[in-house]
Amino acid sequence: MPGLKVAILISGRGSNMRALVDACAATDLAADVVCVLSDRAGAAGLDYAERAGIATAVVDRRGHGDRESFDAALNAALEAAGAEFVCLAGFMRLLGESFVNRWRDRLINIHPSLLPAFKGLHVHERVLETGVRISGCTVHYVRAEMDVGPIIVQAAVPVEADDSAESLAARVLAQEHRIYPLALRLIAEGRVRVVGERVLISGQRAADASLLNPLPES
Ligand code: GRF
Repeated sequence: MPGLKVAILISGRGSNMRALVDACAATDLAADVVCVLSDRAGAAGLDYAERAGIATAVVDRRGHGDRESFDAALNAALEAAGAEFVCLAGFMRLLGESFVNRWRDRLINIHPSLLPAFKGLHVHERVLETGVRISGCTVHYVRAEMDVGPIIVQAAVPVEADDSAESLAARVLAQEHRIYPLALRLIAEGRVRVVGERVLISGQRAADASLLNPLPES
C-alpha cells in the first residue's frame, strides 16, 4: 500500500530529516519521503537526502521579493513533488498565514523545548538561565504563530548541574530523533486527530516512567 507522501523542509544540518528518512526507509512506517526542500543552498542535509535517492530542491528566500512569493514558490515545489504532508525539520523561516492555512493539519514541526515553554530561538541557553530542571522537545502541528499548535508528542530530559547549552542540546536532540519518527508514524497510521486545538491519539499508551530531577536520596 502506498504510504503518506511526505516532504521535509530544512535549513541546515538536517539530523531530524535524517531520522525521518531512515525511519521511512528502514521500518514499516507507511510514509515515503518524496522530497527534501531547503531555503539555503549550502544546507548540509541536502547531501544526505541526495545520497538517499530523494529529490531535493532549494527555494532561496533571496530569489523572492516578499514572503508571499517565497511561500508560493515553496508551495509550488511541494505540489510538484506530490507532497501530501510536510515536516519542518530545522527550517528557519516563518511561514505566512495563507501557507500555514493551506497545509493546516498537514504541517508539523519539531521544537527543542517542552512547549509552550521556551518558544523561539536560543532555547537551551534560556533553559539554563531559568534553572528549570527538566527540558525536552515537542512535535506539534503548525499554526501561524511561531512554535504554537496542537502538541502530538513530547519527550522530557533532565537538565544536569554541569550542562552547557551544547550538552543539553545534544541530550534533547537524541530524543528529537525518537519522537519525530514516532509522531509521523502515529499520523501515517491515521491515529492522530486534532480536536479543538488538542491532539487525540487513538490507542495511546501512557508514558512508562516519571522523571524526577534531582533524584531523592535513597
Ligand atoms: C532541532 O533542534 C530542531 O528541534 C530545531 O532545529 C534543530 C534542527 O536540527 N527546530 P537538525 O537540522 O534537524 O539537525
